[in-house]
Amino acid sequence: MCGIVGYVGPRQALSILLQNLNLLTYRGYDSAGVVVSHNGTLYIEKTAGKVSALEALIGETEVEGHVGIGHTRWATHGPPTTLNAHPHTDCQGRIAVVHNGIIENYYVLRQELLSQGHKFTSETDTEVLAHLIEAYYQGDLGAAVRRAMQRVRGAMAMVVLHSGEPDKIVAAKLDTPPLIVGLGQRENFVASDIPALLKYTNKVYILEDGEVAEITRDGVRVSSFLERPSRRVYQKQVTVIEWTPDMAEQGSYAHYMLKEIHEQPTTIQDTLRGRLDEPARRVYLENFLSPQQVQNAHRITFVACGTAYHAALVAKYLFEQVLRIPTEVDVGSEYRYRYPIVENEDIVVAISQSGETADTIASAREAQSQGATIVAITNVVGSTISRMADAPLYIRAGPEIAVASTKAFVGQLIGIYLLLLYFGQFRRPQGSPALQQILAELPHLAAKAQRILDDTAPIERLAQEISRSKACFFIGRHLDEPIAREGSLKLKEISYIHSQGYAAGELKHGTLALMERETPVVALATQENLYEKMLSNIQEVLARSAPVIPLIQEHSSNLEVLPEPRIVIPRTNDYLAPVLSVIPLQLLAYYCAVALDRDVDQPRNLAKSVTVE
Ligand code: AGP
Repeated sequence: MCGIVGYVGPRQALSILLQNLNLLTYRGYDSAGVVVSHNGTLYIEKTAGKVSALEALIGETEVEGHVGIGHTRWATHGPPTTLNAHPHTDCQGRIAVVHNGIIENYYVLRQELLSQGHKFTSETDTEVLAHLIEAYYQGDLGAAVRRAMQRVRGAMAMVVLHSGEPDKIVAAKLDTPPLIVGLGQRENFVASDIPALLKYTNKVYILEDGEVAEITRDGVRVSSFLERPSRRVYQKQVTVIEWTPDMAEQGSYAHYMLKEIHEQPTTIQDTLRGRLDEPARRVYLENFLSPQQVQNAHRITFVACGTAYHAALVAKYLFEQVLRIPTEVDVGSEYRYRYPIVENEDIVVAISQSGETADTIASAREAQSQGATIVAITNVVGSTISRMADAPLYIRAGPEIAVASTKAFVGQLIGIYLLLLYFGQFRRPQGSPALQQILAELPHLAAKAQRILDDTAPIERLAQEISRSKACFFIGRHLDEPIAREGSLKLKEISYIHSQGYAAGELKHGTLALMERETPVVALATQENLYEKMLSNIQEVLARSAPVIPLIQEHSSNLEVLPEPRIVIPRTNDYLAPVLSVIPLQLLAYYCAVALDRDVDQPRNLAKSVTVE
């Protein structure tokens, strides 16, 4: 996944491009580049490394020009070198293009263009676009882009400019990778994601699959290359973004990740806001599933990736235990390849912070093609998943910049509890003790989460120990098991310490062999009905000399058999424990990464949203 920016207007383009690229580095940061067009000449600068390396390369160079595009890359074809960095140009050096996604038929197109005499300089699929547009260019960049986009296959967002059309950039979208046009006052912008536009405008066009936007300072002409002929220009609906610029800023925190961890009490409140009527015991979800759709569903399937998949695992326990609805869970990259059996009344819930994860989108599309009703639990208004869903449920967590997902995960969990209560009011109209307990406790979670965040010193001390480990295990049972997995993923992805999240009862079937003094084990024991079993599992691990760090609710029993230090969370209803138990584990991963001087917000090899399969 990569970050794309563009500008056309009365201001100097270069500083705007660099500023906006810095707000998108979470989308990819292995190489970066910009191009500014002025008086028939293209100024291009690009390099391996982050946007900061590009800024250092440009230094104090004065670059005149009011139209330009920029790119920060997460490599898919060709290593992250200066040569492979975007933008890429045509043979004449008059066309420059940046791109996010994959051109699946690039090799065939490259051979065709080579046979026509085109010369390639990079190993990327992107460069094919520059030469294809050159081949079709007859004085109208928009027309050439439409023709080129009719030849390529795959999923991509691209932006291109031509030195002979000095006041224009052209953007196009095929399938999933996002592309947004920011509508200013006699200036217009383009970006892969909202944070890069918020400083200038909150009015945007969200490009759809097949759309081409010809962007000048005076306006935006939108057409579709999927139409034949594709010259028809039509009016797009303006979307107004509710986020404010400072929501995408780091503020006084050392890292975005720490800021976003500390935003979680607010996230809990925002996800619930206006949706929970405790006295009336009702949940209100806007433009959502009908009672009949809920009542007729024989089965519900959750599909998601990474952290969102762990939220889906929590959902399975809840929907089957509380509502007795058969519930399946799949990782997005597997679902469509297992030839799922989908019936018309099925409900499939896609969970995705970005709403742009290609594997999750593909899963939802597969289910939808077989007649399922799609619910999306997502954070980004207008994201691909939100737009394809029959019923989107927005978690309202605000922009999540750090690659490691934290507040979005907690927002997804709250979204799942809301979904559970919503289903419950039609599947259990008479109510149930479990539903009542969840409904009553939800409004108190934010304050309890705040209590954890008000005293992080014990976790910071623990992180000093754990950061010296060669491996760390997280174990739990039932609702603790998905959180054990999430704690492990957090630790792995930002501290690079090997880790595994495991069902505690499964340890004795093999993994126990790995337990030794150097492998601490975080043992989650928040579920009262399985507490005794967890105490036994903890003894099993202690007997192998591995240090155990219990994670328990306050006022738990049998403390005399539990080692210290312990992680203690405020007491809550067992069903809701995941919302609180994940927070210390996020903090543990964060402080381990800091202790190891890792790149916390942009860990190696990763990107914020994986918009390629
Ligand atoms: C989580 O910390 C990771 N960044 C990653 O696993 C992420 O959760 C996954 O890629 C899914 O992203 P999405 O929620 O935007 O679909």
